[in-house]
Amino acid sequence: MDKFVVRGGNPLLGTIKVSGAKNSALPCMAAAILTEDEVILENIPQVQDIETERKLLTSMGAEVELGYGRAQHRTHIKCAILSDPVAKYEIVKTMRASSLVLGPLIARTGIARVAMPGGCAIGGRPIDLHINGLEAMGATITQDHGYLEARADRLKGAHIVFDKITVTGTEDLLMAATLAEGESVFENCAREPEVTDLAALLVAMGAKIEGAGTSTIRIQGVSKLHGARHRINPDRIEAGTFLIAGAITGGDLNVDCCEPKHLAALISKLEQCGVKIDVGADHVRVRSGGELKAADITTEEYPGFPTDMQAQYMALATQSEGTSTVIENIFENRFMHVQELIRMGANITISGRAATVRGKTPLQSAAVMCSDLRASASLVLAALVADGETILDRVYHLDRGYEHFEEKLRGVGAQIRRMGDVFGKR
Ligand code: UD1
Repeated sequence: MDKFVVRGGNPLLGTIKVSGAKNSALPCMAAAILTEDEVILENIPQVQDIETERKLLTSMGAEVELGYGRAQHRTHIKCAILSDPVAKYEIVKTMRASSLVLGPLIARTGIARVAMPGGCAIGGRPIDLHINGLEAMGATITQDHGYLEARADRLKGAHIVFDKITVTGTEDLLMAATLAEGESVFENCAREPEVTDLAALLVAMGAKIEGAGTSTIRIQGVSKLHGARHRINPDRIEAGTFLIAGAITGGDLNVDCCEPKHLAALISKLEQCGVKIDVGADHVRVRSGGELKAADITTEEYPGFPTDMQAQYMALATQSEGTSTVIENIFENRFMHVQELIRMGANITISGRAATVRGKTPLQSAAVMCSDLRASASLVLAALVADGETILDRVYHLDRGYEHFEEKLRGVGAQIRRMGDVFGKR
């Protein structure tokens, strides 16, 4: 398993580029299932979850070609024949987003067999809302040996009010509804930019969708979708992680190729912390404004403060003067980075969904363990300001969702390198 070795102390200076959003790319790749034509996606990030999804689609009979570098991170997907509409456990066990193939598979082939998903260990993460929605659209769903099996001749449009706001649940049912018979109306939908991105692709494929990006989405089902070309949105969580990297190191960092509108909640919080921010059309510059000041956050659905930025923000809070309260509202077990931050010298106490961070505390290097994707990013951020050399184990969690993370950070002055284990395994 690879490790990162990070020596803290350097302010990050220069320009760092943001890649395409993993969480947009995953549903958009799943959407290719809905048509026998070719779907071309650009700005696909080169991360492990995308490779997992490629394997998943290929195992079902799809042709998937991933090209990086000069090929502009483009993927060509053709699901002409889906000979094996099964999402096998061996492939999906590391990636919860695999539940995203459930809706499109059943809509296209009338049958889907999908292993119950794995993914980050940040809470129970049920998929009951996906299942209830598909049942409301006429699917019959059974569960055996860790697999869900869904069947339907043709899905029917339905009026669904989500009990809870779910991002991939909204995306899964949205894809299913595009090929359903009649109209679907979904209420209490997720408004995340990734939902809007997916809807843009679906519309380009011939779907009839109104209201994506608001809490009510209307879909008129069509009998067939066709191929399309679509460019994936920039990754707002990667961009946000870099903003915090600039702020925590007291640097001057231009985070380029991002969509500042998607970063509004984080930007306003950083300003509250005393960080200087200049917003351009597709870039955000972050500069030190002197001492960082404590500020509280509460994670919420978009456009609120993203749960996917909570761990990284917590690293920043350890370097802010005063007490910051961090409330995690979306997932019940998302404080696994806290023990590791404490081992590096942070003063954090947890009570239920609230963490209290007392700063500023000097951080020291230590051997630390990554527990999930965003927790890994949080530990890298802490290591960038720690005294000495921090060794981060299990960076495969980070590789699921950040493209060339250490190379990008090195490019702006961080001292970070990857170390393979003695057996050379990942
Ligand atoms: C997506 C993102 C993830 C982000 C999360 C919240 C992807 C691939 N992943 O995850 O990075 O942290 O949104 O912004 O896009 N829930 C249920 N039943 C369900 C579905 C969800 O109770 O059927 C609950 C979850 O346990 C959680 C909450 O709803 O408490 C939100 O989860 P959801 O929005 O579904 O997260 P994901 O789509 O898995």
